[in-house]
Amino acid sequence: MSEPYAAVEVIAAKRDGGELTDGQIDWVVDAYTRGAVADEQMSALAMAILLNGMTRREVARWTAAMIASGERMDFSAAGRPTADKHSTGGVGDKITLPLAPLVAACGAAVPQLSGRGLGHTGGTLDKLESIPGWQAQLTGERMLDILREVGAVVCAAGEGLAPADRKLYALRDVTATVESIPLIASSIMSKKIAEGTGALVLDVKVGSGAFMKDVARARELAETMVALGTDAGVRTRALLTAMDVPLGRTAGNALEVRESVEVLAGGGPPDVVELTVTLAREMLDAAGVAGPDPADALRDGSAMDRWRRMIAAQGGDPDAPLPVARHTQVVTAPAAGVLARLDAYGVGVAAWRLGAGRARKEDPVSAGAGVEWHAVPGDTVTAGQPLLTLHTDDDARFTGALAALEGAYEVGAAAADRLPLVIERIGG
Ligand code: URA
Repeated sequence: MSEPYAAVEVIAAKRDGGELTDGQIDWVVDAYTRGAVADEQMSALAMAILLNGMTRREVARWTAAMIASGERMDFSAAGRPTADKHSTGGVGDKITLPLAPLVAACGAAVPQLSGRGLGHTGGTLDKLESIPGWQAQLTGERMLDILREVGAVVCAAGEGLAPADRKLYALRDVTATVESIPLIASSIMSKKIAEGTGALVLDVKVGSGAFMKDVARARELAETMVALGTDAGVRTRALLTAMDVPLGRTAGNALEVRESVEVLAGGGPPDVVELTVTLAREMLDAAGVAGPDPADALRDGSAMDRWRRMIAAQGGDPDAPLPVARHTQVVTAPAAGVLARLDAYGVGVAAWRLGAGRARKEDPVSAGAGVEWHAVPGDTVTAGQPLLTLHTDDDARFTGALAALEGAYEVGAAAADRLPLVIERIGG
């Protein structure tokens, strides 16, 4: 087949700071997906985009081309308005686990296609897979059945959803081109728009444990994604939330499931409860559902009931004991004082090195591994009291984890300044 464009000319146009035409964008995304544009050519184009950016028109067209590379799902038969949440990823970010059943208990349907963890941030599917029997792979029909019966489903995206993004994301990962706002925004939004949700709330994390280390870049990413969703007919809004300190009290797969169940039982760490309830209210509002208040649904057991049904519908046993790591090591406070700092990135890397995360996509993860912290910034501690417990199946991993934690916590006279949990709200 003769091609209407030459990849070299498209790359050169972006390298020289030009705007790509709609025709060039449609062609290059399609040709890359079918193998007519080579990996080395797409790598050069991705780097040119990272360095020179894209206009709003280019990002919108690029997103549309990635959606058009695959199938679009349709959950209009779910019988109630659909709402989804996407987090850009953080340490201890288990919010999807209590949030999906909570929003279902309040009257919306939640079709959530999730991913696995890579690097120091965890993945929702890895967490849920620590529940004995739970299956991540579902057909579209089964997803719809569970949405109708339970109101919430969390599963893996099928191969047919935005295949251009699947291929491009793997390439960006190995060519230092992940950190481009147009490429991140189009990657996330192509999958969320193709998933067919009616309303979407984006949790854009800011801080050491997040992709976006500062508020200005996080705001730019959030505004780009909100515009893409809104233009595609999805009622989209975003919250910028703190990821300078890890969320909750645990990072690691089964450890985070345990904490999520505590939240669903009406307890759990205050920051996890607050963010879960805040995001649930945003999702229900964006979906136009005026049901019970999410805080009440956590207290009265209705969210816990949905959780149990959601896990069972995917083969999981909500009553089975969760896996526990073979070895633990406790890190104690070096002096009396106040826990001044606990750095999200250091804790995330430690959990990853203990076996909770993977370095390559094909690596297995350990269900029981991770980090538990017994104090949060601002808490008074005594010398020698347990600060952190490290969990692993392989005790040779403690050394690397302890190295990651060096300088990641500090006991002093007072807590250091930190970001508010919810920094800013965009859209809606
Ligand atoms: N998550 C995605 O799905 N894509 C990106 O580019 C970054 C985070």
